[in-house]
Formats: sequence, C-alpha cells, structure tokens
Amino acid sequence: MKKLNRTDQLIVNFDQGLRTLFGKPLATQRANPAKPKENTHLTTIEQQLSMRLMRVNHAGEVSAQALYQGQALTARTNIVKENMYRSAMEENDHLVWCHERVQELNGHVSLLNPIWYAGSFAIGTLAGVAGDKWSLGFVAETEKQVVQHIDEHLQRLPAQDDKTRAILEQMKEDESHHATVAIDTGGVDLPKPISWIMSKISKIMTKTAFWV
Ligand SMILES: [Fe+2]
Ligand SMILES: [Fe+2]
Repeated sequence: MKKLNRTDQLIVNFDQGLRTLFGKPLATQRANPAKPKENTHLTTIEQQLSMRLMRVNHAGEVSAQALYQGQALTARTNIVKENMYRSAMEENDHLVWCHERVQELNGHVSLLNPIWYAGSFAIGTLAGVAGDKWSLGFVAETEKQVVQHIDEHLQRLPAQDDKTRAILEQMKEDESHHATVAIDTGGVDLPKPISWIMSKISKIMTKTAFWV
C-alpha cells in the first residue's frame, strides 16, 4: 500500500467520517445475519422497543468507527495502524446491519450521530497518542463493555424478534473477538478510573440515542 502523507491521511479520515454518517460505508460484504430469519409478528410497542435498541446499537457503531479512525490516525506503528483500519472495516458490517434493521422497524438513526462521531474521534485520537499498548488496551476495554451491553439488549429484546437477535448475536461474537485480538497484539489493562469514565460516557450515549 502506498504510504500516505498527512494531507492524504486527513482526506481518508474525512471521507470515512462522511461515509459513516451519510453514505455507504466500506464494509466486508458479510451477509446480514437477519436475512435468513423469519419475520415474526411484533406489536407496535415491541417494534418501537426493538427499533430504539437498534438505534442505540447503530450509534454505538458510529462511535466505534470514529474511535478506530482516530486511533489509526495517531497509532505509532504501521501494524497497529493497519489493524485499526481492518477492525473499522469489520465494524462497518455492524453499522450496515444495524442501519438496515432500524429502517425495517420503521425508525430513523440517531440525529445526534455527528456528535457521537466527533466526540469519539477525539477520544480515539487521544488513545492513540497515549501509545499503542494503551490504545490496544482501550480497544479491549471498549469491546468488553460492548459485549456486556449487547447481553443487556438481548435480555430486553422482544423474545420473538429473531431478526434483531441474530444481528446482536453475531455482533457479540465479533466484539469479543476484537477484544481478544487487541490483548494478543499487546493491549494492557487500563487503570480502573479510566474504565469507569468510559462506561459512564457510553451510558450517556446509549440513554440519549434510545430517544433521539
Ligand atoms: Fe461493532
Ligand atoms: Fe468491535
């Protein structure tokens, strides 16, 4: 791959941001796990609940994109940089699947997505600046928290909503794999107060994106 200079790099980041928020993200083309599942009957209230949960997950994936892009920008080594871009690509599958499900359930994605993106990009950039072992540790901690969050959603989801469940189960498997890879490539445990702040920030985001 051609080595990018700083301007090229910024253009790539800008393009990724626009694609994430408004366009067609570059994904790996894995099939949406909801496709083979039967459409089951949901009451209006159940449909609303599933839609809101998936809107939260879509917003989470917007943030994941921004975190990885920010971390890639400031990664020290090329290996870590490339790993971050590869993970971002896999996360884009989640972004696409969540978006499709929100639309099927007659909803819209979070209006605050540009804010989630900007905030997460800044956090990702800082994590990268701290150094690769911290940045990878940050990925591991984020993914660990995401897995817990998906478990919560699997509990709250209407029992018969097989399509949404199939997406969440595949995402959970992928996120836990991302955490393992980050630890295997040298991620270290983050100080407890940092993990605590991370969980508080994501709580604010998940609570808000549920409604808007
Ligand atoms: Fe994801
Ligand atoms: Fe992930």
